[in-house]
Amino acid sequence: MSFTAPKGTYDILPPESSAFLAVRDALSRPAALAGYEYIETPIFEDTALFARGVGESTDVVSKEMYTFQDKGGRSLTLRPEGTAGVIRAVIEHKLYAGQLPVKLWYAGPNFRYERPQAGRYRHFTQVGAEAVGVDDPMLDAEIIALAWEGYRALGLGGFRLLLTSLGDDTCRPAYRALLQAFLRDLDIDDDTRRRADINPLRVLDDKRPDVLAQLDGAPLMVEHLCGPCAVHYDDVRARLADIGVQWEEAPRLVRGLDYYMRTTFEFVHSGLGAQSAIGGGGRYDGLSAAIGGPALTGIGWALGVDRTLLAMRAEGVGLPTAARVQVYGVPLGAAAAERLFGLTAGLRAAGVSADMAYGARGLKGAMKAADRSGAAYAIVLGDRDIRAGTAQLKDLRSGDQLAVPLDSLVATILEKLT
Ligand code: HAM
Repeated sequence: MSFTAPKGTYDILPPESSAFLAVRDALSRPAALAGYEYIETPIFEDTALFARGVGESTDVVSKEMYTFQDKGGRSLTLRPEGTAGVIRAVIEHKLYAGQLPVKLWYAGPNFRYERPQAGRYRHFTQVGAEAVGVDDPMLDAEIIALAWEGYRALGLGGFRLLLTSLGDDTCRPAYRALLQAFLRDLDIDDDTRRRADINPLRVLDDKRPDVLAQLDGAPLMVEHLCGPCAVHYDDVRARLADIGVQWEEAPRLVRGLDYYMRTTFEFVHSGLGAQSAIGGGGRYDGLSAAIGGPALTGIGWALGVDRTLLAMRAEGVGLPTAARVQVYGVPLGAAAAERLFGLTAGLRAAGVSADMAYGARGLKGAMKAADRSGAAYAIVLGDRDIRAGTAQLKDLRSGDQLAVPLDSLVATILEKLT
């Protein structure tokens, strides 16, 4: 019997795995530069946290959760997203009692039982950032700009920022009623009618032509914002404009999670087909209270590492690949291998990445391995060299080779690499 990775999952293998790490780092770096600190929360949480935080009526909660009972009879769920767990941790550890805003970033796997297709997996990786406890439109603009910078730093050009405001508890209920009244008069099927009852905003996202055609005159949230929400949204856009971040108004943008209010956004990429969202987020001022915490405001995003990699591939943007090691040891015989074993350990202790050929491979095989490793230098060592107290240091790019005394080898390599 043999096994394959479960449906909807895939292995991230070398050499592409180095590009995966590079993307993860590039997407989180702007947040770190803005003072966001790293947080890591468990991969599973109480099921009720997601039901209450993300929303019972969302597909994510009602259809896509990996829920199980542990041996203690608790209902646990593999996290489908990171925000609920991060806010749970902020509340549990009273991080809000310190300096505000609490600025946090995270990276890791999430799990959704979705129908797998290109760019949509059951196990996928996000980089996320959250700013909690300060209601300042400048913070909305900051967080959006950090995602923008992350994509730009990777050399991506074909992405767009879709932006809207979803209003708040003051203006959204009235708008919701207005939209429901509009939808009631349309010629739509029973399922859509039911959706209009539970979450009418989601009907605005319907892509079927017969429904779309009827949505032309639908009332839009942005046209019915209350005074404070309208001012907030104007401020966010003014600050984005100040720093050169371009957006498109997306009054029908619908997110798959229920906790959003006010500023809401998505980054989409044209090279990805149906799964075009490479990242998304927004303000979630009611989330903390909904999961039993104090009334804390918050805004954040999560960027999809898997889809960002696909977008880079679609654009033909060079994926960052690093040499596996800087130096590679090529031993000719058992005694040389033992000496090289110590030498490579010494190189690593000095901060130089180093590997060597193991398993008596012979000169040709070992030199091939040295080339494949991407190393700048090979140390070739044989019995005659050991007797002479030297090693052959070979520059793998130019092919030049010189004899270097064994006791100054590490120093010589350090000098050559800087
Ligand atoms: P989300 O829009 O559900 O938001 O996910 C964010 C990103 O994760 C998506 O734009 C996409 O790139 C990636 N993603 C989601 N599902 C999949 C999947 N099945 N396969 C591959 N990639 C996927 C959130 O998760 C919110 N927690 C974001 C947030 C943070 N809002 C406020 N703070």
